[in-house]
Parts: sequence; structure tokens; C-alpha cells
Amino acid sequence: MESTDLDPEAAPDEALQPVEPPAPSHWQEFLDRARKSAQRDTPLEVRGTLTRLTGLVLEATGIRVPVGAQCIVTQRAREPVLAEVVGFSGERAFLMPAGDVYGLSSGAAVAPAAPFVPVPRLHESADEAHAADAGMLRLPLGDGLLGRVIDSQGNPLDRMGPIANVTSKSFSRKPINAMDRAPVRDVLDTGVRAINALLTVGRGQRIGLFAGSGVGKSVLLGMMARYTQADVIVVGLIGERGREVKEFIEDILGEQGRARSVVVAAPADAPPLLRMQGATYATAIAESFRDRGQHVLLLMDSLTRYAMAQREIALAIGEPPATKGYPPSCFAKLPQLVERSGNGLNGVGSITAFYTVLSEGDDQQDPIVDAARAILDGHIVLSRTLAESGHYPAIDVEQSASRVMHNVVSREHFELARRFRSIYSKYERGRDLIQIGAYANGSDPALDEAIALHEGMGRFLQQDMYEAASLDEVLEQLKVATNAEPGYL
Ligand SMILES: Nc1ncnc2c1ncn2[C@@H]1O[C@H](COP(=O)(O)OP(=O)(O)OP(=O)(O)O)[C@@H](O)[C@H]1O
Ligand SMILES: [Mg+2]
Repeated sequence: MESTDLDPEAAPDEALQPVEPPAPSHWQEFLDRARKSAQRDTPLEVRGTLTRLTGLVLEATGIRVPVGAQCIVTQRAREPVLAEVVGFSGERAFLMPAGDVYGLSSGAAVAPAAPFVPVPRLHESADEAHAADAGMLRLPLGDGLLGRVIDSQGNPLDRMGPIANVTSKSFSRKPINAMDRAPVRDVLDTGVRAINALLTVGRGQRIGLFAGSGVGKSVLLGMMARYTQADVIVVGLIGERGREVKEFIEDILGEQGRARSVVVAAPADAPPLLRMQGATYATAIAESFRDRGQHVLLLMDSLTRYAMAQREIALAIGEPPATKGYPPSCFAKLPQLVERSGNGLNGVGSITAFYTVLSEGDDQQDPIVDAARAILDGHIVLSRTLAESGHYPAIDVEQSASRVMHNVVSREHFELARRFRSIYSKYERGRDLIQIGAYANGSDPALDEAIALHEGMGRFLQQDMYEAASLDEVLEQLKVATNAEPGYL
């Protein structure tokens, strides 16, 4: 089927292109939509009243609006507050505010932010029309976002003026049919030696960085941002410290990296709704570049804070907690977010994504850690013991795995990596014996080899945060570190 302005699969930046005169069938479709729109019952109840505010959640009566719709809460002598409908019970609608609720009182007016019966527009896809119809949120997408730092509502945070060259789009969309998604086949150079060598990443892979606090997740994410080959980098800073936003942009991305990056920041003090929206918005921005055939790197710090924001919302509207206080909806939201990244339709463009996952108290059995590990295509575990001994990046190679590595590397590379792992873990298993001097040299030739190579392997795994290690040089170094004979296979 040819791509048209009414085609739901059409390129997202179509509004920026010169507009083709519509074909007669488009007019017909447009007229049908206009007719339906005119015949529809106009809801009479378009303004409700705020009746209750408990903790984080607003309750309104007298308004019938769908979940996901945006509403404005207004009260005299007070700035209006934007809120999103997150649930309902009978006639009562539950809303989460996107701003400060201080000073609101009962009786404030609650009205939909967008008209429910919008005028159908000719150059609008069916998906877009549906979103506008339901009063769903639309946010700016397009080239104008490159080089900018924005909040989860698309407002610039960088004091560089209004954002030009963007169009407002809804960011809810149909998932890609699993059969139309290209498999991960091409290798991606991340510039990090331990990852390139032993946990090789493919274009379109989704990987988790798992660690307790302060073990080096953000620094490692920064190294990827600097050295990974990508056309566009989208960074979602979700629920982390506000201070880190500026640091990430100035110290990690630098001038060069910034020109091809978009940063969406929803720090810890943003309302939970905006923290969740920030993660979805960053993903939607990455999708919009991918749909145009670009290779996107999506860095999300952190996935745990996204799940925690959903926990706050779900508990506030009365969903019962299931595991460790997380209601079931948290576990449903994670794959919905993560499945949006990956390779595009029929191999057009890709989103390679790194998500940091906080394992509280270095607990690898945490429910979010477990859920994230199950839905991602690879996990890189950082170890506090390594970090404490000054071994950076503190990647625990024994516990980490890349599930697509065998698809993207040569047989020689795969064999060398396997040899590295087996020698490395041989030493780790004998470490206690060796350290107390209970091991007699010569009693196990494999352990003798592991002892001889161990120091070199430790050096191989460490890397300065301002040094890049390309995939080609890494393979040569891997041969040296494992003392592999030439023509090892
Ligand atoms: N590659 C590295 N080289 C040297 N020091 C590092 C490296 N990685 C991390 N560090 C040190 O570890 C500290 C914590 O790192 P980072 O902020 O990345 O941790 P984090 O896991 O993101 O923490 P949090 O969970 O609190 O966000 C850094 O301030 C830095 O001192
Ligand atoms: Mg961090």
C-alpha cells in the first residue's frame, strides 16, 4: 500500500514535507470521518468539580472523560493545573496532577484540556485523529529537538528559546507486529572494552545496566553516549538527581555529542505522572527518528524510577500492592515501554537502548530487577566489590550476558570470549585457596594458566572513563589477554 497522509504507518515528520494534493479516495475518507464526527453525540458534561484530594490523587465528579485524557483544574486566583485521567470508579474520575496542587480546594472546576469533538483535519492520520478525539496528550517531535534539553511536556529547559521545526504529535501508537521487526544482526561498537569483547551489543538490542546505588551506572551510560556509533542519541533522565542533568550535558555529551542528542529530563522532584511521561516521551522521540531510517541510541536512567513512579500512581488510585509494594500494573508497564525500542519496521532504522536498573541493596532478586532481566535482551551487572577495589567499569563479567552476542560476532570472537570467561572464572573459583597460599603450583594446569593470565585480564577489563576502545583493537587485545595462539580455532 502506498504511504499516504491517512496511513497510520506513514512517516511521523510528514507534516514537514511539501503537501501532495490528496487523491479522491482520501477526500472520501475525510468526508466520512467528518460526517461521523458531526453525527456523534456531543457530551453534555464537559465541566466537573474537584471533590477530593488525597495524597497525590485528585478526584472529580460530574465529568466523563476517558483514561489518558488531559484535563485542566481551575480555581480563581490560582494558576490552572494540568492533570491526566488515570482511572475512574462509577461517576468519579481519578486524576494525577502534572503540577503543584498546593492551594487547590474542593469545588475547583475540572474540564477537558482538549475538545472532545475536534474538527477532522485532512492531513491527519487515523491514529492522530483518534488521539485528538480522545483529548490525549500531544508533544513536539521532529528535527528541532536535536541539541535541546526538554522536560516531559516538551518545554525547553536549556534557555535557548522556543523549539522550532517540530510538530505536535500524539505519542501513543500501535505496537510493531513482531513479524515485521528485523532481528538483531549487526554489531554495534560501544567503545567500552569489556562490553565489546565479552558482552557484544547488536544494533536494536535492549540492555539493562544493573547495580546498587553509586556503583557507576551513570558513568558507564555516559561512556556509551560518548563512544557508541549512532545517528541520534536520546537521553531520558528519569527520577534521578536534578544536578546530574547539567553534568550529563556539559561533561558527558560535550558540544559535539550534544548536537546529535535530545535530552528529556524529569528529575526526582517532578510529579510521578511527569516522570512516567518523560520515559514515554523519550521513547517516542527515539521512535520518530528511527521511523526515518536513523540509528538511534536511547539511554534511560533509570527504568527503576519509571516503575516507582507507576507504583506511586497505582497505589494512590487504590490498586492493591503485589510484590514488594509494586502493584501488578508496574510489571505490565515495563514491557510496554521497553518493547517500543528495538529494530524498526522491516529493518528501517533501529533503537539500541540501555536502561539502568537499580538493584536496591545489591539485591538481584528485587522484583523490578527480575522483571527487567526477563524482558531485556541482555544484562550488564555492576559489582560493588569491584567498584570498591577501584576496578572501573565495575562490570561483573560472570553475572552479565548479552543474549544476541552469538548472532552478531564472528565465530573466532565468540570462541575467544568463551575462553576468556572460562579462564577468568577458573581463577575466581580458586581465589580463596590461592590467596591463603593453600594452592600448590603445578597441581592443576588450568588453574596455573588462570593465575598467570589473571593480572592481564584484570587490566583488560578496566578502562578510563575518557578512553574509547574500538571493536577492532579489542579483538586483538582479547587474543593477548587469553594468550590465544595465532589461528586459535
Ligand atoms: N569508569 C569510572 N572511572 C572512575 N570512577 C568511576 C567510574 N565509574 C564510576 N566511578 C565513580 O563512582 C561514582 C558513582 O558513579 P555513578 O554516579 O555512575 O553511580 P550510579 O550507579 O549512577 O549511582 P546512583 O545509583 O546513585 O545514581 C562516580 O562519582 C565516580 O567517582
Ligand atoms: Mg546514577
